[in-house]
Amino acid sequence: MSDVTRPGYLRLGVNIDHVATIRNARGNDHPDPVRAAKLAAEAGADGITAHLREDRRHIRDDDIARLMDEIGLPLNLEMAATPEMLAIALKHRPHACCIVPERREEVTTEGGLDAAGLHNHLKPIVDRLSDVGIRVSLFINADKRQLEAARSLGAPVVELHTGAYCDAVLEKQSAKRDGELARLVSAARDGAALGLEVHAGHGLTFDTVGPVAAIPELAELNIGHFLVGEAIFTGLAESIRIMREAMDVARATADDLRSRDVR
Ligand code: PXP
Repeated sequence: MSDVTRPGYLRLGVNIDHVATIRNARGNDHPDPVRAAKLAAEAGADGITAHLREDRRHIRDDDIARLMDEIGLPLNLEMAATPEMLAIALKHRPHACCIVPERREEVTTEGGLDAAGLHNHLKPIVDRLSDVGIRVSLFINADKRQLEAARSLGAPVVELHTGAYCDAVLEKQSAKRDGELARLVSAARDGAALGLEVHAGHGLTFDTVGPVAAIPELAELNIGHFLVGEAIFTGLAESIRIMREAMDVARATADDLRSRDVR
């Protein structure tokens, strides 16, 4: 069972998009992402994340309706800032909406939202979602200008894009890895100082999650592709359990080191 009320606890949001990717490869109902969400809840997920893309390449409209009806965890709906997605979010009223940039030709969400450049486009969307009590998050790169833009838009949450850091780890580029990690560390600090709740995600694996989980200002990680891929080998519950443990160990170790520093 999760320990979500403990101060300093790092929540794990499990993204189930790629269960739907596999289902859609054959056009029938198996494997069911809602069943995966229920299993993730039992395995220790604190929330479920799903991205309803404009092209419906994985999650479909009826998945969102069923996730809202059938899972006992908060749903974080990832969405592009479009009138269609705004109407869907207002209809279902998930716990949170994470606004992401979206391009049809991309394989995955490639970069952060330009919250600064798109202020006038985003402001009414953030306001409409907030007005009905949906917690709005903006998926941004680790950049102070974007954090300040999120604040001036009135979004209470930002999610930092960890893709560049994870790519650097995969490519074994240690200087780039350290630089990207340092950017995440200072963005998390700046975000918290601005009064924002700071999340992070994209591309995280057992190998990359530790240094990110150790960042004390982070409140939540959203992880999908790796957990679903790893589930092929170990089962979804086990992949989530190992990820949860890696997060907890990294955070406890970092807390311990910091408390020794203070003395
Ligand atoms: N956070 C956001 C905003 C995303 O768009 C995604 C990918 O859908 C994730 C987290 C999860 O990324 P991954 O599937 O690589 O773990």
